[in-house]
Amino acid sequence: MTTDMIADLERVWAERSSKRVFRRDPVPRETLVRMFEAAQKAPSWCNVQPWRVAITEPPVTDELATQLQAAARSGFPQPEVPFPIEYPSPYKEHRIACGAALYGAMGVAREDKAGRYDAWLRNYALFDAPHVAIVSCDRRLGPYAYVDVGVWLGYVLTAATALGLDTCAMASVAAYPSVLRARLAIAETEVILFGVAIGHADEEAPANRCRTTRDAAGKNVSFVAT
Ligand SMILES: Cc1cc2nc3c(=O)[nH]c(=O)nc-3n(C[C@H](O)[C@H](O)[C@H](O)COP(=O)(O)O)c2cc1C
Repeated sequence: MTTDMIADLERVWAERSSKRVFRRDPVPRETLVRMFEAAQKAPSWCNVQPWRVAITEPPVTDELATQLQAAARSGFPQPEVPFPIEYPSPYKEHRIACGAALYGAMGVAREDKAGRYDAWLRNYALFDAPHVAIVSCDRRLGPYAYVDVGVWLGYVLTAATALGLDTCAMASVAAYPSVLRARLAIAETEVILFGVAIGHADEEAPANRCRTTRDAAGKNVSFVAT
């Protein structure tokens, strides 16, 4: 029983990868509800369940994408949770490999600045997804609530894959919180953490062939027995 369950989970996780070109067809509301209901099982500190989610449906997704692209072209990024400035080793190497995998899949050369800029702007087109979930939590709860929301995100991504949906988590959109706050009526007490593009991937799109690798768990986990 236990063996089957871990195999099932591993199959779902092996199936998932971030997708960055979506088809336009929306996901039925009931499928989205099912996904979020499943993810409600996520644990959180004192069971406070701090994730707050505004999910767009057409035509609001496109409206938001238009506003975000305008902001990204002209405005200064102002994330409410600071983005990392420096990636010391070994994170730097992972980050470079991640960029190489993505730009390699897209056929954008390392020195192609315009190509990279266009690829970055695609974040703000929400990768043409029919839906984006904008995720926030009450800023008064402090950083441990971010941990809770991260756990919940894992549940959402897993549930989405199990339902045949594709996703891309996106911190990029959190760089323009005023756009999100205004259009989605997100209260000032909420800190905007990230978005999740949701829909069905265009399987033919080169960007969607991007695959990342992982270290063996031994790099991240050490057993302490003495
Ligand atoms: C919190 C979070 C924020 C992310 N933000 C972005 C983003 O802004 N843009 C993007 O293209 N991918 C983003 N990603 C996707 C990661 O780049 C991706 O998960 C990572 O490279 C591993 O690849 P995989 O998801 O295909 O396994 C984000 C992922 C997470 C978990």
